[in-house]
Amino acid sequence: MEPPAETVQIRRMTAADVTQVMEIAACLPEAPQWPEAAYLTALNPQSTPHRITLVASGPRPESVQGFTMASLLPPQAELESIAVAAGSQRLGLGRMLFDALVNDLQAAGFLEIALEVRASNRPALAFYRSAGFRQTGLRRAYYADPIEDAVLMRLHFT
Ligand SMILES: CC(C)(COP(=O)(O)OP(=O)(O)OC[C@H]1O[C@@H](n2cnc3c(N)ncnc32)[C@H](O)[C@@H]1OP(=O)(O)O)[C@@H](O)C(=O)NCCC(=O)NCCS
Repeated sequence: MEPPAETVQIRRMTAADVTQVMEIAACLPEAPQWPEAAYLTALNPQSTPHRITLVASGPRPESVQGFTMASLLPPQAELESIAVAAGSQRLGLGRMLFDALVNDLQAAGFLEIALEVRASNRPALAFYRSAGFRQTGLRRAYYADPIEDAVLMRLHFT
């Protein structure tokens, strides 16, 4: 059984988390599917762009339930991925991950974060709007398989 949200901690992703992160993403068609090498590169502090990579994890290290990744291209931060395991959604974990990400971004001097999301991804759009994002544009036929518009969104930190 999944631990309740109050026992979940947000912490930095490590290489030991990558298998679980990939398993979560593989079960969520809306999540970006990165190969293992891309995650390991993202975790390498020497690689560019620099990234913030976080997981939501229960008390046991092997109990990762969600993750988020943002690339840092000053002055711009871009949300590349946020995903919560299907059985743990709507418990506040996505918001916990995103709030921790914003805290880290603000500590690093960033003033805003941008993202793009498939126009059909209603849960993600609702999640982003609830977090304060506003739509800033639409990129026609940006995604492939299936071809679809990208909604561009931005959140300025207050
Ligand atoms: C988007 C996602 C990360 C949200 O994670 P989550 O842990 O379920 O979100 P939270 O429980 O923190 O929700 C916070 C708020 O967002 C909104 N929200 C989240 N999921 C929603 C949904 N399916 N429908 C409507 N609103 C939703 C609600 O306002 C919610 O607050 P509430 O539960 O009090 O009503 C999750 O749906 C997910 O992993 N989706 C698949 C991957 C994906 O599409 N990622 C985005 C592209 S990378």
